[in-house]
Amino acid sequence: MLELNGISQSFGGLKALSDVTLSVPEQRIVGLIGPNGAGKTTLINIISGLSHPTSGSITFAGEHLHRTAPHHITRLGIARTYQNIRLFGDMTALQNLIIAQHARGHASLLDAVVFAPRYRREERDLYQHAEMLLERFGLSGVAQIAAGNLPYGDQRRLEIARALATRPKLLLLDEPTAGMNPAETRALGEQILRLREDGIAILVIEHDMSLIHQVCDEVYVLNFGQIISHGTPNEIKADPAVIEAYLGSDDDASA
Ligand SMILES: Nc1ncnc2c1ncn2[C@@H]1O[C@H](COP(=O)(O)OP(=O)(O)OP(=O)(O)O)[C@@H](O)[C@H]1O
Ligand SMILES: [Mg+2]
Repeated sequence: MLELNGISQSFGGLKALSDVTLSVPEQRIVGLIGPNGAGKTTLINIISGLSHPTSGSITFAGEHLHRTAPHHITRLGIARTYQNIRLFGDMTALQNLIIAQHARGHASLLDAVVFAPRYRREERDLYQHAEMLLERFGLSGVAQIAAGNLPYGDQRRLEIARALATRPKLLLLDEPTAGMNPAETRALGEQILRLREDGIAILVIEHDMSLIHQVCDEVYVLNFGQIISHGTPNEIKADPAVIEAYLGSDDDASA
């Protein structure tokens, strides 16, 4: 479904990614782990079109993505969440989901004026879909609360619901359980597994190894911009190169 081939990214003199080759097959959950600063978020930024790689190629569902704009990538069926939550804090939880769906809505402003019935039908569908997502993530009770006033765990779940509102085929999650307690993390893992059953492919960046073991079919390990290991969660856990990368890093020895 998603194929990255030889992706490299430099920022000035810093090589953030070197020759990264990775694929996310249809309906699979693929993990991406690695110490802080390894280049994980940089890779998701490239897939979602926020930045363009120095070299390498990306294909998604058979289509070549070359300097493709983020909104076009959304329309092709790729959605993401952010490591630092990016909700509209002043808007309610429900409004955040409605707005996100407009990113790929079909009724234009002209439709709204000239073809009012079609527009109203789409609006109704948007609300129904948003309410379904809120319910799914246990957020129905906070639908009318401003996103910025929600507890942190709710904001994380709303961030995922917002990504799903665009009806993606591939979902990119950047540390979805950051700040969650073990019970919340486990419950979110179950939600992620349900998304795979719904036919969505997922690439998930995570420091929490319990979540990686709970949900991932396969895992890539990134260290200093390079893939140093790839396999099942158990395989990468036993790989000496992975153990070395984590023990060699001061701030992540516990991961
Ligand atoms: N826009 C940018 N300009 C310059 N350097 C950048 C930029 N974005 C990232 N970097 C650098 O690239 C490297 C990889 O950063 P990245 O955010 O991808 O790491 P990460 O694996 O997501 O880390 P973390 O686990 O801390 O989130 C870091 O050295 C970072 O400082
Ligand atoms: Mg990151």
